[in-house]
Amino acid sequence: MNPPVPVLAIDGPGGAGKGTVSRAVARHLGWHFLDSGAIYRALAIAVIDRTIAPDAVADIVKIAHAMQLRFDTAEPPGVCLDGVDISDRLQDEQTGAIASRIAALGPVRQALLQKQRDFRQLPGLVADGRDMGSVVFPDAEWKVFLTASVEIRAERRYRQLKRKGLDVNLEELRSELEIRDRRDRERAEAPLIQSPGSVLIDTSELDIPTAIQQCLAVVRPLA
Ligand code: C5P
Repeated sequence: MNPPVPVLAIDGPGGAGKGTVSRAVARHLGWHFLDSGAIYRALAIAVIDRTIAPDAVADIVKIAHAMQLRFDTAEPPGVCLDGVDISDRLQDEQTGAIASRIAALGPVRQALLQKQRDFRQLPGLVADGRDMGSVVFPDAEWKVFLTASVEIRAERRYRQLKRKGLDVNLEELRSELEIRDRRDRERAEAPLIQSPGSVLIDTSELDIPTAIQQCLAVVRPLA
């Protein structure tokens, strides 16, 4: 039997810098990249556009199976849902809020499992999410739990949105992050946890290049 395609699973709460770090690590290694949050976000957009209630499990599962997603490697990366470019809407607050609600539904997670596993291709995969090391790729060679304090995560998000010219409130952002964290950590299905055997990287006091180096150091001895 062929050896399995190597996977680096990077899990952690929103706003810890996971997306930027994982993408850069994939680029350094020349590996494929899975942004699993973008899959949940794309499904959320499909649900919003069809005015489906975020608890209508059967309808959402149907869409999850039918939706066609295409990721491109542009910078910033683009995502097409059923042939329509949805890149501009992926990071909207509404998209994130609905994504987090539908992500708590077990059958929806199940419906998205294979779509995520399909990304596992040679020469390797860096997978970014909440349950990469625990559920989607439990046999991943390397697992990282990338986190940061909620204060720091809220401040980063605040600066990011301000730069985009949006009128945002730091306290509101912080409480939204806390609500989403709690939902991700306390849900019955695939809760956000630090998988046994994973390496903890706290980016509260780290800049991005250092966090990237620390992730690469986890993989380098063997890759
Ligand atoms: O990481 P990102 O903020 O893009 O993810 C959006 C939402 O999708 C998260 O709040 C989380 O609820 C959900 N998600 C998940 N499992 C993943 C990735 C994302 O439940 N592997």
